[in-house]
Amino acid sequence: MADDQPKSGERPRLTTSAGAPVADNQHSITVGPRGPLLLQDYQLIEKLTHQNRERIPERVVHAKGWGAFGTLTITSTEVMKYTNAKLFNEVGKKTDLLLRFSTVAGEQGAADAERDVRGFALKFYTEDGNWDLVGNNTPVFFVRDPYKFPDFIRTQKRHPRTNLRSPTAMWDFWSLSPESIHQITILMSDRGLPVGPQYMNGYGSHTFSFWNDKGERYYTKFHFKTQQGHKFYTNEEAGEIIAKSRESYQEELYGAIHDGNFPKWTMYVQIMTPEQADAEELNPFDVTKVWPHGKYPLIEVGEMELNKNPENYFAQVEQAAFSPSNVVKGISFSPDKMLQGRIFSYADAHRYRLGTHYEALPVNQPKSPVAHYHKDGLLRFFADNNNPDAYYEPNSFDGPAQDPSYAEPPLPVNGVAKRYEVEVTDADFIQPRALFNLFDDGEKQRLFKNLAAAMHGIPQFIIDRQMTVFERVDPAYAEGVRQALSHLDKSQEDRETQKDVDRMALDEPHKNVEK
Ligand code: NDP
Ligand code: HEM
Repeated sequence: MADDQPKSGERPRLTTSAGAPVADNQHSITVGPRGPLLLQDYQLIEKLTHQNRERIPERVVHAKGWGAFGTLTITSTEVMKYTNAKLFNEVGKKTDLLLRFSTVAGEQGAADAERDVRGFALKFYTEDGNWDLVGNNTPVFFVRDPYKFPDFIRTQKRHPRTNLRSPTAMWDFWSLSPESIHQITILMSDRGLPVGPQYMNGYGSHTFSFWNDKGERYYTKFHFKTQQGHKFYTNEEAGEIIAKSRESYQEELYGAIHDGNFPKWTMYVQIMTPEQADAEELNPFDVTKVWPHGKYPLIEVGEMELNKNPENYFAQVEQAAFSPSNVVKGISFSPDKMLQGRIFSYADAHRYRLGTHYEALPVNQPKSPVAHYHKDGLLRFFADNNNPDAYYEPNSFDGPAQDPSYAEPPLPVNGVAKRYEVEVTDADFIQPRALFNLFDDGEKQRLFKNLAAAMHGIPQFIIDRQMTVFERVDPAYAEGVRQALSHLDKSQEDRETQKDVDRMALDEPHKNVEK
């Protein structure tokens, strides 16, 4: 080793990003000790310009998140009847995965212990490419048509004038979209505020397809049940936590894995044949509904464990790009309109947030070989051409070739194309009612209290409209919320600041509102 090389145990030599050794990283070049600077101090300019480019756009939803790596281990043969997906094809088989949890509405700096739906986004690095299951900690969703999603999200984000979250907007939208009541009931129940990512279930929520070597298709739903048990905070407890730490989930998850307490979930699927789907009273592709366990029992698939913290949060969690469009052989979509909308939306978001070749970033890179004909663009940092002469298709130079053995069985569809109005009917209240009746007394009281806290101070005509929705679930539901609201009215003479601002924001448009 030459004398000027760093010796083992010594600090590595600092270089520029172009690899040239740096002589001084502490003092800028000035004309005299007091300045001014010289434009030729390119390393100073490099440091300043890099800093200016350290942030990328945050996710438009689910901006605050926590992630870890782990493994899925298959424990049962039952699922193999329905799908030829390789990750399920052997008991004991292990597949590496990344799991990112998130809240939906808050920005990247939001406090972790806020009441919100939690994202549960999985990337399985399978032999046949990446399978992304981008679910939530709830089995249902607020709306069932992707046309409504951007409006819904707008009500969860900040009011354009006050720049504050607006309970009025939320309840205006929800009370005008009563299909949301199932998800609202979960959100406002104990499970709407878990203590940490380990203490909640995950669900694929939508209906997906499985297909097998016989060319048979089955519809399926994915469930991940926590082995840590469900633990939740009340609003008051969460307030105390947030006063002490805004990062309680990061601390919980990172700490548990660091200490070797690896969180685990049991993975299950439900199966519905296409014949059952045709005969089923409920629309099996409606994401505001679950499939009752009694009729479609949970089938165990395997055990999921999180066992490795990211080395670099930005590179491995912030740059992670999950998309429902990433499916692998044996797994596919269903006619669910929301799922169909999502198949488009995510990759589009990634191209904007990360750049054209976002799937070549290390965390998104499949662990199986990749060979495609996509060409240049942002993030084209991989030099491999697969085959330099076969850069188009068809070609005579042994470029990557399609493999018909991966073809999915055809999906029969029929009908007339139009914008269908899916009315809210009594059937939409059956499952929220079943859930409400599953709650014990204490849980019902906390549900009423949480709802009252969320609604208190919004215009009375919106409360009245929402009350008719609670009433359709169960008169006891409406009565409980009514009492909790009047209790809050009495005990809270002064309205909270946020509610006042909300009212101010409504002052003008209010005049035109039909009550
Ligand atoms: P089951 O009694 O077989 O299932 C009840 C389900 O409810 C279980 O998955 C249970 O989850 C979950 N659950 C229990 N307590 C709560 C709670 N406080 N908040 C949210 N979920 C809870 O009956 P059904 O399958 O007929 O479902 C009845 C109702 O349960 C549904 O209308 C739906 O609202 C809710 N539910 C149903 C699910 C499904 O896939 N069928 C999934 C989740 C909820 P766990 O096993 O973890 O305790
Ligand atoms: C994130 C769109 C419904 C779960 C996102 C992102 C977009 C989006 C654009 C940000 C992606 C990124 O920048 O990385 C939509 C649309 C929906 C929809 C258009 C409806 C049509 C749902 C539903 C679920 C869900 C129903 C759950 C069942 C998630 C999760 C994330 C996410 C978990 C965060 C993923 C991550 O951790 O990176 N969504 N979404 N979304 N969405 Fe949706």
